Amino acid sequence: MTVLSVRGLTVRFRMRESAPVRAVTDVSFDLAAGECLALVGESGCGKSVLASALLGLLPGNAETTGSALLAGAGDDPATDLITADEATLARTVRGRRVGLVPQSPAAHLTPVRTVRAHLTETVRRLTGTRGRDALRTATEAAARVSFPAGHLDRHPHELSGGLAQRAATALALVGDAPLLLADEPTTGLDRDLVERTVDELRRHTGSTRALLMITHDLAAAARIADRVAVMYAGRLVEIADAAAFFGTPGPRHPYARGLLDALPERAFRPVPGRPPELAALPEGCAFAARCAHADTACSAQPPLTGGLACHHPHTAPTDLVHPPQAAEAPRA
Ligand SMILES: Nc1ncnc2c1ncn2[C@@H]1O[C@H](COP(=O)(O)OP(=O)(O)OP(=O)(O)O)[C@@H](O)[C@H]1O
Ligand code: SF4
Ligand SMILES: [Mg+2]
Repeated sequence: MTVLSVRGLTVRFRMRESAPVRAVTDVSFDLAAGECLALVGESGCGKSVLASALLGLLPGNAETTGSALLAGAGDDPATDLITADEATLARTVRGRRVGLVPQSPAAHLTPVRTVRAHLTETVRRLTGTRGRDALRTATEAAARVSFPAGHLDRHPHELSGGLAQRAATALALVGDAPLLLADEPTTGLDRDLVERTVDELRRHTGSTRALLMITHDLAAAARIADRVAVMYAGRLVEIADAAAFFGTPGPRHPYARGLLDALPERAFRPVPGRPPELAALPEGCAFAARCAHADTACSAQPPLTGGLACHHPHTAPTDLVHPPQAAEAPRA
């Protein structure tokens, strides 16, 4: 069963002083029930804008086109998240059908409420549970993400970055939403907590639920993802099975391979150069200026076919086959 089907998703930001920012361009992918898709790519490539577009949370200068069909379930009809009106998104989608672990959790927590009050109110609103049961469910939600019970009566400004992150993750898990978007859910956590948090997110997936995890942490992606989507300058350039991507034959797109080669446990060789400005993208492949394989063919935009957008992809397996993180993670 497909939980989310995204087609041709494109986001432009109108700017007063410059050409539009082409933050997301022609992104298409499907997400199946039970699946975890990791979305990776350098800072500023459009990952959070993509997540915000799916939740109708973009600012007024954004123009969004394409479609993102969220499957119907029970009494909920299938919904195109891009064309749905704000009332529908606010009442029936956010929290209930699409959960979000936001990239800046502190900014999403109401400053005047304690974590316990926040969680309890969310439990009441999303599950209809009342009284002591709501309080107990809120405490259990905190425990699921290792949020210390002794800190539940703290306000957001009294939380470290890692605690705010865990509070936001607990809030996102409460509604048991069919689609969970987790945008950098492990920022500020030490390795042990990273693993516990992503394992808990992974457990959220099931016969009707899917997870889109946006992350810089390739070890976390290797631990729980079924597939990996690599974004560069607003476009998906490779979507691959995670085992093949992190193991053998490895990534096929030169940028995706560069991302893995940059890891300390691999070649520790950064991708040369910098990504282009999204308000001044070159014609053709946006990676050409940084790519050792570039030639004249690359002045034409490569389409994404067979999970790959490149005129000259790698054909030989990667010679460094150690996954970024070898430990076994639980599967849903
Ligand atoms: N409201 C806005 N107006 C103009 N440009 C914007 C706006 N919001 C985001 N952008 C631009 O869109 C691009 C994509 O931003 P986004 O936050 O999605 O990056 P990201 O991939 O999530 O990066 P990071 O890994 O650092 O979180 C960036 O160039 C950013 O400056
Ligand atoms: S299309 Fe050309 S420039 Fe772009 S990644 Fe492939 S080989 Fe490199
Ligand atoms: Mg982001």
